[in-house]
Amino acid sequence: MTSPFAIDPTDIRALGQATAEWIARHYAELSELPVVPDVTPAETFARFDEPVPEHGVGWRELLARFERDLAPLSFNLPSPRYFGLMNPTPLPIAVFAEALAAALNQNLGAWHHSPGATAIERQVIRWLCDLAGYPAASFGSLTSGGSLANTTALKIALATKLPETTRGGLFGLTARPLVYASAEAHFSIEKSCNILGLGGRDGLRLVPVDAHSRIDVARLRAMIAADRAAGHHPFCVVGVAGVTSNGVIDPLAELAEVAAEFGLWYHVDAAYAAGGLMSDTLKPRFRGVERADSITMDPHKWWQMPYPCGAVLTRDGEAGLRAFTAADVYIPDTGRSIEFRHHGLQGSRPFSALKLWLAMLMVGRAAYARLAEDQIALTERFVAELTKDGDWRTVTPVDTAIAAVRFTGARRQDAKERLPELDAVQDRIVDRVLKGRRHWISPTTTVGTRAIRVMVISHLTRWEHLEELIGEMRAAASANEA
Ligand SMILES: Cc1ncc(COP(=O)(O)O)c(C=O)c1O
Repeated sequence: MTSPFAIDPTDIRALGQATAEWIARHYAELSELPVVPDVTPAETFARFDEPVPEHGVGWRELLARFERDLAPLSFNLPSPRYFGLMNPTPLPIAVFAEALAAALNQNLGAWHHSPGATAIERQVIRWLCDLAGYPAASFGSLTSGGSLANTTALKIALATKLPETTRGGLFGLTARPLVYASAEAHFSIEKSCNILGLGGRDGLRLVPVDAHSRIDVARLRAMIAADRAAGHHPFCVVGVAGVTSNGVIDPLAELAEVAAEFGLWYHVDAAYAAGGLMSDTLKPRFRGVERADSITMDPHKWWQMPYPCGAVLTRDGEAGLRAFTAADVYIPDTGRSIEFRHHGLQGSRPFSALKLWLAMLMVGRAAYARLAEDQIALTERFVAELTKDGDWRTVTPVDTAIAAVRFTGARRQDAKERLPELDAVQDRIVDRVLKGRRHWISPTTTVGTRAIRVMVISHLTRWEHLEELIGEMRAAASANEA
């Protein structure tokens, strides 16, 4: 019997062809597959509950099992009818790039373990810095996603503004370090403050937002001034470019002014909306992002990358090194160049840059720009169509390709009296749509209002998909009223 470790080119070719065949079939069927699998948690766990396998089986049997047991239990996030949480339809070039990267198995923690791959990550980071309008001295690194990028950025902020904490920690500080972010910022900001020992509650000041979900800059100024007067140490302010609930962009230039005025580190969480930076038409919405000290971008959102592919950039390209460099006696000191392990949290690092590099070369900036513009236009059309009969309204503006809408049933005589129960109605409409399994939308709360969130994220989504969704949402609202 051949060893399971044997490498046989004929067998590899057959494995690759069979895998590619499944992927091609899956993409072809994607738009008609149910988005939401009909399965319970208990069923999913039971399907794979087995002891440690004593002896192996061949890949043909395993591919058949993948198709039989796993694919039907998968949520079809890449579907054009998934209007969800920033999970795109991965570009095939990026899907296969993952296999190529795995075959090379470069370790991007050290340049000499990944010479060409490090150069490619450096190049994609350069491109992202250029898109942000950053100077030549800027730099950054790829991360597993937006959460880790935010943690990395806040750590760099802390290391820059309170350098003594890198060796001495927070112990012994006489003033409490504080971070400021809008009340609508992503939960990873709280998580980062928690991880960094600042305190997810007491180290983070949540600043109220205006009626459009943008950070209230006057309140921010007042909060920082009051905290300073109370003897605390405000050191970082976070702006959001693409609020998770509604895609709204904070006034980034005004935040840059506040940061400069108080001498704070300025971080912009553009995890999702950075995709809009590809477009000259959309760029004015991001005015001020180029003044940020650090920026989070998530190519696994608007740039249609499979996971994982996040990025953190710093205007001062050396800033990451100050936060993360540590002694590494076992790594040979030969040919040191860009050493990505000293720019972030990870030691051994994957070659995620390959898929982004290939995709950017293949798609090009102009087509990415069109995708962002078209998806925003689709979202605007969706909102206009849904709200035209007066029974629905928008909760927040459409800055990017996310709509936050609310059913009001305003045409009914008793609409005003029914207002308090309308929050539950939004959730019931979402539940009803999800039960159909054909579309995925979600409930959220934004600007203090229960709303329904609809996001155009797949490059396969067309107007007909949204038209069908509108029909379902209207039907769900009517069924609820009946
Ligand atoms: C604004 C924002 N920041 C950060 C994140 C976290 O990104 P990830 O899920 O890649 O960690 C998200 C995710 O939706 C987000 O919307």
